Amino acid sequence: MNVQNKPGPAPAQLTHQGRAVELPVRSGSIGPDVIDVGGLYKETGCFTYDPGFTSTANCSSKITYIDGDKGELLYRGYPIEQLAEHSDFLAVCYLLLNGELPTNEQFRDFSRTITNHTMVHEQMTRFYTGFRRDAHPMAIMVGVVGALSAFYHDSLDINDPDHRRVATIRMLAKTPTIAAMAYKYSIGHPFMYPKNDLDYTSNFLRMCFATPCEDYRVHPVISRALDRIFILHADHEQNASTSTVRLAGSSGANPFACIAAGIACLWGPAHGGANEAALNMLEEIGSVDRIPEFIKKAKDKTSGFRLMGFGHRVYKNYDPRAKVMQKTCHEVLTALDITNDPLLKVAMELERIALQDDYFVSKKLYPNIDFYSGITLRAMGFPVSMFTVLFAVARTVGWIAQWKEMMEDPDQKIGRPRQLYIGSPRREFPMI
Ligand code: SDX
Repeated sequence: MNVQNKPGPAPAQLTHQGRAVELPVRSGSIGPDVIDVGGLYKETGCFTYDPGFTSTANCSSKITYIDGDKGELLYRGYPIEQLAEHSDFLAVCYLLLNGELPTNEQFRDFSRTITNHTMVHEQMTRFYTGFRRDAHPMAIMVGVVGALSAFYHDSLDINDPDHRRVATIRMLAKTPTIAAMAYKYSIGHPFMYPKNDLDYTSNFLRMCFATPCEDYRVHPVISRALDRIFILHADHEQNASTSTVRLAGSSGANPFACIAAGIACLWGPAHGGANEAALNMLEEIGSVDRIPEFIKKAKDKTSGFRLMGFGHRVYKNYDPRAKVMQKTCHEVLTALDITNDPLLKVAMELERIALQDDYFVSKKLYPNIDFYSGITLRAMGFPVSMFTVLFAVARTVGWIAQWKEMMEDPDQKIGRPRQLYIGSPRREFPMI
């Protein structure tokens, strides 16, 4: 497939054991070409080998594009910093799902439809009481989101485009409600129902911080900041959790189960759990004078310690989201009059030192989106255990958009990687 219909690139030549093999090369609209190795095993009897998929594309996609060297992130072609500045999360959801920004009328219809699906089945509240009060909210999210498929038999025929549309709306609309309920359960508060006269992000904030005794006045700067944080986290090409959703979906699993699998993968500290881990690291460092000790540990391979919130598989330049995140962090701390947050001082000094240190410079380790998000979310009043839940609320639209794209791809088939076997050759069972 060549997007511009210009003659495709010349095929790649591979010589293996004296035999020459030609492999087709395909170009996208921007970014690296790909060498199509689908026929490699048939031609050579060999598999490719790429643990962690550092050089492997597992699909073609029109949704998100990252240029790691330039530090560029595009959602359907629009730069992330422009969307963060000029759009809002629900409009970005429409863009990611449909490929174009909504007209005013399209936005009004989309927003109303989402609003009308924000409540969950009342019986879902019983799932929460099965968890211990101190259960990690991500454990609750995996369980309750997965259980959605037990409630919505009418939108589980994944081959029916209308069922996929209904499931998409339900996922987007209910994830904030389920997340807010996970938070309320963890602090022993009664659940707050969504209110239809609030926008998506304000509704989520109110469900988290209002109580039956006292309503929550949504602070416009906080709501705008969280909406922007949701935009920054919405999608990110074929990251680990999105690849998990695609692989689960490739078997025909229902979308709720696929999203639950994505939530489980996001939880890892090397991925979405890094915002929680980064704040815990800043708290462990505690003060600026202890930074050198931790920088030294991060360079010592035997320590097993890494600077959480630093480094990225794709970005070998500054994560463009981190820049917007840093700006948002300062806005929130200023609005809440906590600009003397000691953790912010530690974070800024740690960033300054790391960006000058040859170890980090040579390995192109820059702050990523998770470096400043934790300080910001804590200032908003969220406990550390909710940070990755917020990431999951935002990323749900990316997971669903990628799942939808895969389901509509005529070439999609069940994902089934091969391996390099290094175990025992055939041996007979010992007959004693
Ligand atoms: C997210 O994929 C995505 O798009 C993810 C994400 C998204 O939006 O979905 O962007 C969200 O997950 C952001 C990343 C959050 N994770 C962290 O902040 C955890 C800390 N970072 C690392 O663990 C690491 O940087 C990764 C996991 C993010 C990337 O790992 P890679 O690409 O496999 O890189 P690597 O582990 O091979 O590291 C390359 C080198 C190694 O040294 P050498 O073996 O070359 O000597 O850099 C070192 C690593 O030891 N290194 C670090 C480091 N990250 C990498 N050293 C110290 N501190 C770090 N944070």
